[in-house]
Amino acid sequence: MQSEAPTSSPRHVAIIMDGNGRWAEARGLPRTAGHRAGVERVREAVRTAAEAGIDYLTLFAFSSENWRRPEEEVSDLMGLLRFFIRKDLAELHRENVRVKVIGCRQSIQPDIRALLIDAEDRTRDNTGITLVIAFNYGARDELVRAARKIVQDVQSGVLDAAAIDEAAVSARVDTAGIPDPDVVIRTSGEQRLSNFLLWQAAYSEFVFLPCLWPDFDRAAFHEALAEYAGRERRFGAVSAPGIAVGS
Ligand code: IPE
Ligand code: IPE
Ligand code: MG
Repeated sequence: MQSEAPTSSPRHVAIIMDGNGRWAEARGLPRTAGHRAGVERVREAVRTAAEAGIDYLTLFAFSSENWRRPEEEVSDLMGLLRFFIRKDLAELHRENVRVKVIGCRQSIQPDIRALLIDAEDRTRDNTGITLVIAFNYGARDELVRAARKIVQDVQSGVLDAAAIDEAAVSARVDTAGIPDPDVVIRTSGEQRLSNFLLWQAAYSEFVFLPCLWPDFDRAAFHEALAEYAGRERRFGAVSAPGIAVGS
């Protein structure tokens, strides 16, 4: 039993990387320029998180609703993901980063699917930080897919319907095996989840920052971590000196 809630050092940080478009528009540039600048910050964020001793960093890269954007922007975002995996995977692997991808694998281009599977396979045995890339990810879609898996497992006799509990659901969402995020950070000033990690963020702390994602540098990341460190997590219990809270 711990005597203090382990608030100061998050094990899992999840980030909604928002504001690329506004960053570009403020400079009179096309939105795609914002996405390009955003990729640089992805590299920096992975390094900063690893240095800070964070075990899991989840980045919301493309939502299941982002297909609603103009075709040109969607195709640019797909191109950037291809570019990032091709260019950065070797270095991530050298730095002992384990890559994991969450989101729906259907309806994405086959070459991207192959790149993502390769990134996971090549880095599977790495022991450093786990970079979780949320791509074509939407929490409601994830929960629907989890519900389908539960039904299949009940029908095939793997799971007893009466034994369905929270652990059974957690084992069938895309993040199975990954601890829940301690903190969800969102840049760009928007204060909403936009269908991100609805199941997993039940007790996460939220840090909303006004800065746009292409401005999210090392200092901004540390600022967010400091804000998290000042929070008191209760998990439904009461706080009192010497009484453990936290999971
Ligand atoms: C986040 O930036 C990147 C993705 C959603 C892929 P946005 O493109 O949403 O930027 P804003 O919110 O329009 O400024
Ligand atoms: C959330 O940002 C998705 C990602 C960061 C990938 P959006 O920009 O898509 O969210 P909304 O539309 O403002 O809610
Ligand atoms: Mg946005």
